Amino acid sequence: MVDPIKKTPEKLVNKLRIGIAGLGTVAQGVLHLVKTNGSLMSGRTGVELVVQRIASRSAKPGVDLLGAVFSTDLHDLVADPHVDVILELIGGEGLAKDLIESALAANKPVVTANKAVIAAHGDQLLAGGNVPLRFEAAVAGAIPIIQSLNQGLAANRIDAIYGIINGTCNYMLTVMEEQGLAFDQVLSQAQELGYAEADPAFDIDGIDAAHKLTILAALGFGTSYDFSALYVEGITQIAAEDIQYAKELGFKIKHLGIALRTDAGLETRVHPALVPSSALLANVNGVMNAVQIVSDAAGETLFSGPGAGGAATASAVLADVLSLGESGLLDSVGAVESNDRSLNQAQAAAVAPGIHRVVMDDIASACYLRIPTVDRPGVFAQVASALSAHSISIEAVIQKEQSSGDASVSIVILTDVAVESVVNAALSELAALDTVAGEITRIRVAPTH
Ligand code: HSE
Repeated sequence: MVDPIKKTPEKLVNKLRIGIAGLGTVAQGVLHLVKTNGSLMSGRTGVELVVQRIASRSAKPGVDLLGAVFSTDLHDLVADPHVDVILELIGGEGLAKDLIESALAANKPVVTANKAVIAAHGDQLLAGGNVPLRFEAAVAGAIPIIQSLNQGLAANRIDAIYGIINGTCNYMLTVMEEQGLAFDQVLSQAQELGYAEADPAFDIDGIDAAHKLTILAALGFGTSYDFSALYVEGITQIAAEDIQYAKELGFKIKHLGIALRTDAGLETRVHPALVPSSALLANVNGVMNAVQIVSDAAGETLFSGPGAGGAATASAVLADVLSLGESGLLDSVGAVESNDRSLNQAQAAAVAPGIHRVVMDDIASACYLRIPTVDRPGVFAQVASALSAHSISIEAVIQKEQSSGDASVSIVILTDVAVESVVNAALSELAALDTVAGEITRIRVAPTH
């Protein structure tokens, strides 16, 4: 491996020919960044990037391809002997997985921004380990969080990861709070800004954040890349009034990915959560992402930056590409030791085989409950008694006067910490009361470390 400090000027320029699959927001961001910062990159790293070939289903005549050959067949990228490294920027699982597999089989390193394919097939794709597969851009956009877990915090036992890892959800919750806009209006804005996935249900239903948490948990805790093992909830049930009530109680609502080591095992869950207004994570707004890592030696570290958008994601894609070029791995693919940590990001998966995952029913958290009720004397006592029957204590209550035109009045309760299965039983009992006039909203309070 070349020591960047000792590099001589002659050794500095190492041409790296890239082939790009896809021509969407991220691919266009990559082309733009190579165009504007290409010489800055080669000056800094000694790697000159040449966009050799681009393959995409359809041409985009308005996009500057920087002189690259264009074709509509993805496999031309693998077949082209002049392509050194392939950037998989098409997203989705099927085609992307095929492309990554055939590229690796052809000894071509791959850089991908595709969280879905890594979260579902990471174990298999990373199993060989001889040909680099890098995915910094798959988690938290521009933030170098994969590098931080793999290298910066490599000496630590990781105890917790808390992440705001979906830019669309964070943008939507922020705008709902600041401008009081309706959910659908805010979603269209996030789509127009290029933050949302091709199918925005992936964002608002929590799937995208779960893909990313799967990757963080694999790297931080040595789990397998098993997306299906996570508990996942999105933000579709959050109303503007929940954001206001939470504020009155001293909290902000954030959509969080949580991986937490407890005495019972590892919790891996994605859901909206109440975060104390004074907490650092509570003040990460808009499209910004943040990942807070708690580890034994480093303590609490917080990484923050834009989590979506073409330029931010391109920054992470090109960081991977440049590090491959800098490390000189491209000259020696196939001869590289498979236990090289910088090469094989799946290594952590072997650290803790069989780690026990705590099932959602067993996790304990305080909860925010918004219960729509008919406005009748004695209703609060009925609600309190149902909670008390399950030994759930009440920490705080908000009950507003019924506004004119409202058919129901909301009772908002902050409970003490209780086990999920117990809260579920209490919620079923509450839902069956004839004084409860609609769907109950439950939002868990984020754990504190
Ligand atoms: N749709 C994703 C988000 C894009 O909003 O965070 C970046 O992964």
